[in-house]
Amino acid sequence: MYTHEQTAHMQQLTLQWLTIADSHNATLTAMAQIQTLRRLLQFHEHRYYVANQPLISDTQYDTLYHLLDKTEQQYPELVTADSPTQRVGSSLNAAFETKQHLVPMLSLENSYNADDLNDWDRKAREMAATDAVAYCIEPKFDGASISLIYENDVLVRGTTRGDGVAGEDITANIKQIKSIPLRAPFSDYGIQQIEIRGEVVMTKQAFEQYNQLLIQQGLPVLANPRNAASGSLRMKDPKEVAKRNLDAFLYHISYYSKSDAPLVEEANQRAQELLRSHEGTLELLWLCGFRTPQKEKKVVGNIQSVVAYVQQFEQQRDDLPYEIDGMVIKVNNFALQEKLGMTSHHPRWAIAFKFKARQATTQLLGVEFQVGRTGAVTPVAKLQPVSVGGVTVSSISIHNEEYIKEKDLRIGDTVIIERAGDVIPQIVQSLPELRNHTQTHIQFPTNCPVCNSTLYKEEGEAVWRCINAECAAQVVERIIHFVSKDAMDIKNLGEANIKKFFELGLLKDIPGIYHLPFTAIATMDGFGKKSIDNLQLAIEASKQQPLHRLIYGLGIRFVGETTAKTLANAVNHVLDFTQKSIDDLLLLDDVGIKVATSIAHFFANAQNIALLQQLEALGLQLRNVKKDTAMEAGALNGQTFLFTGTLSLLKRSEAEALVESNGGKIVSGVSAKLNVLVVGADAGSKLEKAKKINTIHIMSEAEFLTLIQNQSPSHVTA
Ligand code: IVH
Repeated sequence: MYTHEQTAHMQQLTLQWLTIADSHNATLTAMAQIQTLRRLLQFHEHRYYVANQPLISDTQYDTLYHLLDKTEQQYPELVTADSPTQRVGSSLNAAFETKQHLVPMLSLENSYNADDLNDWDRKAREMAATDAVAYCIEPKFDGASISLIYENDVLVRGTTRGDGVAGEDITANIKQIKSIPLRAPFSDYGIQQIEIRGEVVMTKQAFEQYNQLLIQQGLPVLANPRNAASGSLRMKDPKEVAKRNLDAFLYHISYYSKSDAPLVEEANQRAQELLRSHEGTLELLWLCGFRTPQKEKKVVGNIQSVVAYVQQFEQQRDDLPYEIDGMVIKVNNFALQEKLGMTSHHPRWAIAFKFKARQATTQLLGVEFQVGRTGAVTPVAKLQPVSVGGVTVSSISIHNEEYIKEKDLRIGDTVIIERAGDVIPQIVQSLPELRNHTQTHIQFPTNCPVCNSTLYKEEGEAVWRCINAECAAQVVERIIHFVSKDAMDIKNLGEANIKKFFELGLLKDIPGIYHLPFTAIATMDGFGKKSIDNLQLAIEASKQQPLHRLIYGLGIRFVGETTAKTLANAVNHVLDFTQKSIDDLLLLDDVGIKVATSIAHFFANAQNIALLQQLEALGLQLRNVKKDTAMEAGALNGQTFLFTGTLSLLKRSEAEALVESNGGKIVSGVSAKLNVLVVGADAGSKLEKAKKINTIHIMSEAEFLTLIQNQSPSHVTA
């Protein structure tokens, strides 16, 4: 969609805006500023969400975005529906309005094997009255179908499939999906109004991240990315939709009208050519800035090649970043498509090939109750082991009492389970019709299965909790969390060892990690000198971990990694939180009342304060080091920098000059004296060495530019 030259130009312009943004105000009209910023943001959204090759950091994107937002607020009359700022803010009515599709949304006929495909191919060739039928094969995305209308290049409506004739108007939610452009240059192809079809999906990664968030909040996880996508599209608050990180693939033009303005002959020919085949449609949509199955699609000349491709794709299914439940085979040529026509239910020129389901039925044998770090008691269903999509499943979390009731699960039930991709298996449903009176209800315990203290449930919550902070299960889980990868990252202290040390009385609590009795451990099976040395080193090194990791490691309820970073940045020392009220905390980014209350509660507890004091006495980092230096020095005064690898935005000499003009110093090698290593492409040994020194801050070129920009009175001259 963007040529090499355009890309270079956009990037150059971006850097100018990022570095000398304020002085632009003087020379450009508001209109010109707004238009440039929109073009830049549209370009970077495409790089990030469609091409998957961002050229600037998230912070830099935000800088441009805020600049546009600020200018638009000053000139509200210049705001248009296709401005990137209009993705957020618009809200939906309680119930969605129903809107008629321009052309009905049909379904697809299904096929399950080579025989089905051969039959379909034979009929297609008969009806087309030719043997020369080319097919275009592409993934069948497992998400929620949508229909979009653009008028004069601007997205004016997005709807769900609904009953096929009319769908729900979910325009505000659709605008939250960053890979759907709010403006697309259809007019370049002579198109005035266009209705296009596609599928909204949640990538496996976004799905798992979202479920992690739900788990942290003690909420039941979503069963699969498809439910997640279709549920998200119907949410009442578009801001919530934005948090779900949805994606969309477009693959069909159902209607278009020609614009009045004539095209130059060359453009006209190009448009006609693209609008002649399915393959061309995908290309056109891609050129207009949409995600399409461009890479995955394949055009073949006969049904044997179709069979081979769909079978090959089924093998690779798990390697894709999103879920697909089959492939769609379409007659490539539109003239032939028209000849074949459609039934009232599906087009005759397309067919879906469905992959083998990754569901299985099995027996629910019993339920165990596990106690987590926050005392939450989670029921885990023990199943008759069964293979689903190549993995044997024998136990599945069933979340909480309400979930059990909702799904009407009973011990002895036959249940359908599903495993979608790498995703945690879920129970889809029980099959009550197969009950034979031997099934029993699941009894929730009234006492903690580990320490036997009474369980409590807070009002409005689904989870029963053991509130005995000394409960062995909780202590062990807290230690496991404290040393985990995203917290203090003590690699050599795994879950199994923590449990073993705890049982033997060698490790009783978090501070205990820092005085493990290594002489005793050395006598245990499986602990040689080398593994003890490594363990000691890893524990020692963790003392230098930055404050946000420690905060995350404390396992404060509702405080995930991002909130931990916000918290760390808000204080000079973690104990400063003892002085902060809930109102103070509410001023922080993304901290709502639930999170603020939980944080205040944590820092009001004397035992927690004692824990933090012990950790400080042991040499852990309770100060916010970065904030300290920034406050004392202002710009980069006294900080040492080193650049490694190939920089792409600046010349090495320019970058070094920037450091020096801001009071920083360039050093020649990686040592404990180095503060910041800026890493370009193909960095080698310097980066490896720096990773081993915990005090070195490693950042990308983009982050470096942001740092300069935030701290500096002098800037890059482009
Ligand atoms: S073509 C008339 N292509 O599958 C055109 N559909 O089971 C019909 N789907 O409602 C749609 N990926 O939501 C088409 N590459 C793809 C698809 C696809 C997923 C969905 C679509 C449709 C459903 C039919």
